[in-house]
Amino acid sequence: MTHSRRILRLALFGLTPILCLGAEMTAQAGTRIERKAFGKTKSGESVELFTLTRAGAPKVAITNLGGYVVSMLAPDRTGRIGDVTLGFKDLAGYTGDTSYFGCLVGRYANRIAKAAFSLDGKRYALSANNGPNSLHGGPTGFCSRLWTAAVKSGKDGDTLELKYVSRDGEEGYPGTLTATVVYSLREDGGLVIDYSATSDAPTVVNLTNHAYFNLAGEGEGTILDHELQLEADAFTPVDATLIPTGELKPVAETPFDFRKPVAIGARIDAADEQLKFGGGYDHNFVVRGAPGALRLAARVVEKKSGRTLEMFTTEPGVQFYTGNFLDGKVVGKAGKPYLKRGAFCLEAQHYPDSPNQPDFPSAVLRPGQQYRQATVYRLSVTK
Ligand code: GLA
Repeated sequence: MTHSRRILRLALFGLTPILCLGAEMTAQAGTRIERKAFGKTKSGESVELFTLTRAGAPKVAITNLGGYVVSMLAPDRTGRIGDVTLGFKDLAGYTGDTSYFGCLVGRYANRIAKAAFSLDGKRYALSANNGPNSLHGGPTGFCSRLWTAAVKSGKDGDTLELKYVSRDGEEGYPGTLTATVVYSLREDGGLVIDYSATSDAPTVVNLTNHAYFNLAGEGEGTILDHELQLEADAFTPVDATLIPTGELKPVAETPFDFRKPVAIGARIDAADEQLKFGGGYDHNFVVRGAPGALRLAARVVEKKSGRTLEMFTTEPGVQFYTGNFLDGKVVGKAGKPYLKRGAFCLEAQHYPDSPNQPDFPSAVLRPGQQYRQATVYRLSVTK
């Protein structure tokens, strides 16, 4: 409702415009969140859909099943609204999802080699759900869990708080982990994802959001002509099962050099062993600057629409994945098939397999410590 229509409506109910103005300012400041039913899980639990709106920001829908970002609506340079994230029209799509289309991944995002790690001298066995490795927290990782949702109201409007308590031994991980993720919008077009976690016993943790973006609109062909700039001087090369070798390899003179904007497709099929292993880009880049500080990690521009995505994170790395496993079999929310390379992901993270790589930044969380992670996906328009 516009400002003047609301004043008019309230005035009709006998309130003075001055009172209404005050009420209006409180009601409209910052982000507003509407919640509605989104169906029931197979075991009968009610799932909700939360829609976040704010002037200057994309309209973002999020469900508390897996914390999925269900849609992200943003204008192109002519003002035409498009949905820039891949996903499904209803809950059934999400309960059957095997591609992690926008969910909150945990307890350990990305791969752990041979589905096992040691911590303080004890060996922990995980499920191998990706060849010999564990991927994205295992078959019943955080993406498949129902998170407890709360809408909190503050000076800057509403925020969505999602909470999940992962029991000791769940998917093989030690310690009861309490994870909280707060989604909010900024007036500069940013979707902020703020993560925190504590544990009652030593464990490993690596949380991320796995949104798939196509800035031309979900289902609108491939992302090969999107231009990417990555704030990374090095990446972590992998073996044939996509486990890092341990090396930090300079991107200079490789198809992994995105220090200046380059079309994603320009070198994606180059004769390069790393690209062969990934079937395209599916690699962790070392984000320039100090981990812990929120800094620019990536910028993507889709020239036809002008839509531009910037990603900022506090994490040491970002997995750049070009949807190489999509094959057109999954049909998205508007009925269009999701083609191979029909989207890209920028997953903020600790490096893959850190629990087995002593030289990588540690992913260990101990009792009394707090895990923190913040990521911002900011949408704007390049004229
Ligand atoms: C991550 C992985 C990919 C793939 C996707 C989900 O990006 O690195 O290899 O598993 O998740 O399909």
